[in-house]
Amino acid sequence: MALIGVFDSGVGGLSILDEALQELPEHDYIYVADSANAPYGEKSSTWIAARSLTLCQYLANQGCDAIVVACNTATAEAIKDIRSKLNIPIIGVEPGIKPAAMQSQNSIVGVLATEATLNSDKFNALLATLPAHCQFIKQAGAGLVPLIEAGQADSEETLELLAKHLEPIQDAGADTLVLGCTHYPFLRKAIRKLLGDSITLIDTSEAVVRQLKRQLEEKAFGPPDNQYGSVIFISSKDEVTLLGMAEELMSSDLSLHVVSATLLSERA
Ligand code: DGL
Repeated sequence: MALIGVFDSGVGGLSILDEALQELPEHDYIYVADSANAPYGEKSSTWIAARSLTLCQYLANQGCDAIVVACNTATAEAIKDIRSKLNIPIIGVEPGIKPAAMQSQNSIVGVLATEATLNSDKFNALLATLPAHCQFIKQAGAGLVPLIEAGQADSEETLELLAKHLEPIQDAGADTLVLGCTHYPFLRKAIRKLLGDSITLIDTSEAVVRQLKRQLEEKAFGPPDNQYGSVIFISSKDEVTLLGMAEELMSSDLSLHVVSATLLSERA
């Protein structure tokens, strides 16, 4: 059994934790939401890199055996540095532009991600490896993360903003849309409302958890103590709200786990 750290700028990484709890429920988890500082996507590269390293160092100090950087923005800006400083498996998350290019029938793919992710060298290096005939319509989802953090994923305001962001993607005729920020899977319902059922939505949570599973298998942890491990939710802003949102946004049944919630400043 392993202790796994999962970190995001806020509640977005819950989309990854949800998948992890379903696939690997026997492990213990610490989820860190830096909601006091969200959104990361409009901050400088230097700030994102330093803050992401601090929080991953914090998770490593808590005894984590592996860390999932459940944030595309933090992965893009900081994962190289985090991996070089911490001696445990670090799993990152990147926009699924490669599977999207493979699945798209008309080779027109929309990519909705944060500004920092779209501007990052890591994302652009990945983009450069993909077939030139595939057209990527990149769109920064400015303003969406704060609305999701405020529990408004399905509100009218969110729908209106999302409609504006999706317009160029829709106009280009994309048949596939990459959800390039871990907050965006929580907009599925709103996206379907705007774009209909035929567009293929790509999010990488399953692939990320498969990668986590592979890394844990290599480490050969002993048999699980319990069928369901513990989950500690830590927020830099409000742990009660984080727990409430975890219960609301995730489909995993948290009552099967031993769950607690604390403020980051009380523990750091
Ligand atoms: N959830 C994050 C991501 O995957 C970051 C969103 C933000 O804080 O801007 O990019």
